[in-house]
Amino acid sequence: MVITDIIEKKKNGLKLTKEEIEFFINGYVDGSVADYQASALLMAICIRGMDRDETVDLTLAMRDSGDKVDLSAIDGIRVDKHSTGGVGDDTSFLVAPLVAACGCKVAKMSGRGLGFTGGTLDKLESIPGFSVNLDQNAFVDTVSKFGLSIIGQSKDIVPADKKLYALRDVTATVESLPLIASSIMSKKLAMGCDAIVLDVKTGNGALMKNLKDSIKLADIMVGIGRMAGVKTSAVVTDMNQPLGNCIGNSLAVKESIEILRDNIECDIKTVSMTLAAKILLLSGICDNNSEAMEMLEDKFYSGKALVKLAQMIEAQGGNADIVDDLSLLPQAAEVIDVRADDEGYISEIRTSEVGMAACMLGAGRMKKEDTIDPSVGIVLKKRLGDFVKKGEVLAEFHVNDKKNLEDAEKRFKAAYSVSEQQPDELPLIYTIIDE
Ligand code: URA
Repeated sequence: MVITDIIEKKKNGLKLTKEEIEFFINGYVDGSVADYQASALLMAICIRGMDRDETVDLTLAMRDSGDKVDLSAIDGIRVDKHSTGGVGDDTSFLVAPLVAACGCKVAKMSGRGLGFTGGTLDKLESIPGFSVNLDQNAFVDTVSKFGLSIIGQSKDIVPADKKLYALRDVTATVESLPLIASSIMSKKLAMGCDAIVLDVKTGNGALMKNLKDSIKLADIMVGIGRMAGVKTSAVVTDMNQPLGNCIGNSLAVKESIEILRDNIECDIKTVSMTLAAKILLLSGICDNNSEAMEMLEDKFYSGKALVKLAQMIEAQGGNADIVDDLSLLPQAAEVIDVRADDEGYISEIRTSEVGMAACMLGAGRMKKEDTIDPSVGIVLKKRLGDFVKKGEVLAEFHVNDKKNLEDAEKRFKAAYSVSEQQPDELPLIYTIIDE
């Protein structure tokens, strides 16, 4: 086989065979396919697309490009959950303990934040002592004993994605449904779980800005999971405003604990309950949604979900006392009120800009190498549709270093529009795609 023939074929809009796709992936990982050849093929895929068979073949070739996680020592239904990323999107801290308290085994590898999106690992690392670097044995042990563990991705899992993602980033080939779907699903499938629930975000703070593309992505990923023999569902959820009110690392952990502790009704709880209920259905623990919701509410009220979170924190070296005493989490030196310049109903929040403002305060990274400040960030005081008076507090900025404060405040305020009319409420859950 010759790589230029494969590029030519896709350039002409023809379907690639499984063997051709494997030749490309294996060749790119072992270096016999050069970056410029891979770039050309990625661009051809971006423009010409891939059908379902090709996308599945690409995903499986990527999955098989490196090590796989062996979860066979864990008894019970092993489950994973993935979000396509957003702002204030901290559902893992609720979903994982909730379903673990119901008997599922949550084995999850997560990523770090980049740009306007936050990362679960950064948030977990804001817990004093918490380690995301467990070896395979300790990871499997923690999941077996307590029902949940969240760690960083090992470098030997899906090496094809690491190389391809870096190349896509610099060749304008990130936005392609088959490339996104195969990138996400290859990593999920390499985890070896029995069931996967995907939270596919849609809106101005999401990877997919419009609903049609988000549903298409969800549908492709559910199809890949099914063809690979893993029970998979996707929930398409709104990201036209931050999901939670806290954007930052220790702030997000604090918010999750408060919701678990006080059973606060809010958008994060609704989305987390929907995702968790799907996991219980896929796992066969519950037969229908109302039974699942009832079981999950009980885990909130009884405090059992919070106990699970504390067990995971302790097992991974963190200070579990934070669940009773939130002041043990890193705190910023100053809290500064940011006030509205205009009066009216909040009609639009450009969510990625809110994420960027938090990043400018030090809560996120512009480049992979940047270090983050775990204690800083933004706490929103108003949501879409709320009325705000001129001079009223829109948000609190939790700050240490004030060097970007003025610019961050400008960027944050510019992300808001107000109108005289109250805008229509957006759905929080758009659709659910089942296997
Ligand atoms: N997340 C991934 O892991 N891969 C993509 O291509 C996009 C988002």
